[in-house]
Amino acid sequence: MADLAVRVAGIPLRNPFLLASGIWGESGDSLAGAWSAGAGGVITKSIGSDPRPGYPNPTIETYERWGLLNAMGLPNPGIAEYPGEIAIARKAGATIIGSVFAGDAAEFARLAQRMEGTGVAAIELNLSCPHAEGFGTEVGSDPDEVEAIVRAVRQQVTVPIIAKITPNTSDPAALAAAAEHGGAAAVSAINTLRALAIDVELRRPVLSHGLGGLSGSAIKPVGLACVWQIYEAVSIPVIGVGGIMSGRDALEYVMAGARAVEVGTAIAFDGVGVFDRLTRELSELLDRIGIARLEEAVGAAHPKG
Ligand SMILES: Cc1cc2nc3c(=O)[nH]c(=O)nc-3n(C[C@H](O)[C@H](O)[C@H](O)COP(=O)(O)O)c2cc1C
Repeated sequence: MADLAVRVAGIPLRNPFLLASGIWGESGDSLAGAWSAGAGGVITKSIGSDPRPGYPNPTIETYERWGLLNAMGLPNPGIAEYPGEIAIARKAGATIIGSVFAGDAAEFARLAQRMEGTGVAAIELNLSCPHAEGFGTEVGSDPDEVEAIVRAVRQQVTVPIIAKITPNTSDPAALAAAAEHGGAAAVSAINTLRALAIDVELRRPVLSHGLGGLSGSAIKPVGLACVWQIYEAVSIPVIGVGGIMSGRDALEYVMAGARAVEVGTAIAFDGVGVFDRLTRELSELLDRIGIARLEEAVGAAHPKG
C-alpha cells in the first residue's frame, strides 16, 4: 500500500485530504465528523471578528455534477463564540486549521492571535473569497497588501500561516510569492472563481447577492494551472484545492506541485464519506503506477533540470 502521509509546513498529516473551509466545517461536531470519516485534517469555516448572518437566500445554486455557485456572504458566529467549537473538534483528536477573514492587516493579526489561542495547528488566511465586500479578494489581490497582511499575522502568531490565494487575478504566483516574503509557511490555491447565473424568467441573477463563486469539477483545470504556476514561483509548500472529486484529481494536483489538497464541493455532493473513497482511490492509483510514497510525486509533472 502506498504511503499517503505527508508533512505540510511542519504539520504531519495522516493523508493529504483536508476538509476545505466553508463546507461542512462550522460546528465542532461537523469538524469532528469529517475527521472521523478519514480527513487528513480539517479547516474551519472562515471566522471573522464579529458575527455575520451572511446574505439572504438564495445563496447557493447547483450545476448538475460539475459545480456549485455560491455567495453565502461569510456567515459565521464571530471569534468570541468560536473557541467552544474548536474544543469539540480537538477532543475528537482532529488536526485543525483555523480559517480567518478580515478587512486589513491589523484586524487579521488580532483575529489570528485569538484563533491561535484556541489551539489550532495552523491558520489559513482567507485572502480570496470573491463575493464579500471589504474582505477576501478585495484585500487579497494586491501583492503588497498580501505581504503586509501575512507579515502582520506572522508577528502575532507562532503557528504556521497558510495564505489562501485567489484565482481571480492575472498573476496568482505573484500573490503566492508575496505571501512567502511576508512569512507564510504554505499557500493554498484556489478559492472559488467569480461567477454569475441569470434567471431569465425573473430577469435577475439567481443568487440574492448577484455575483458568486464557482467551485467543483468545472474549476479543476483553473486550480491546476494556479498550483502549477505557484509551485514554480515559491519554495514553500502548496496546497491544491478546486474540483477534487476523485483520487486521480488529487494526484493531478500533487503532480502539478501540491503537497496536500483540500476538498469542498465533493463533500457538498456526497457527504464526508468521500474521504474514505478518495484515500482508497489515491492509494490504489499510486500502487498501480508504481509510486510508493505520495511525497515522491509532488511536482512530478514539471520538466526536470
Ligand atoms: C458553500 C461554500 C462556502 C465556502 N466558504 C468558504 C469560506 O468560508 N472560506 C474559504 O476560504 N473558502 C470558502 N469556500 C471555498 C472552498 O474552501 C474551496 O476553496 C472552493 O470551493 C474550491 O474547492 P472545491 O471545488 O473542492 O469546492 C466555500 C465554498 C463553498 C462552495
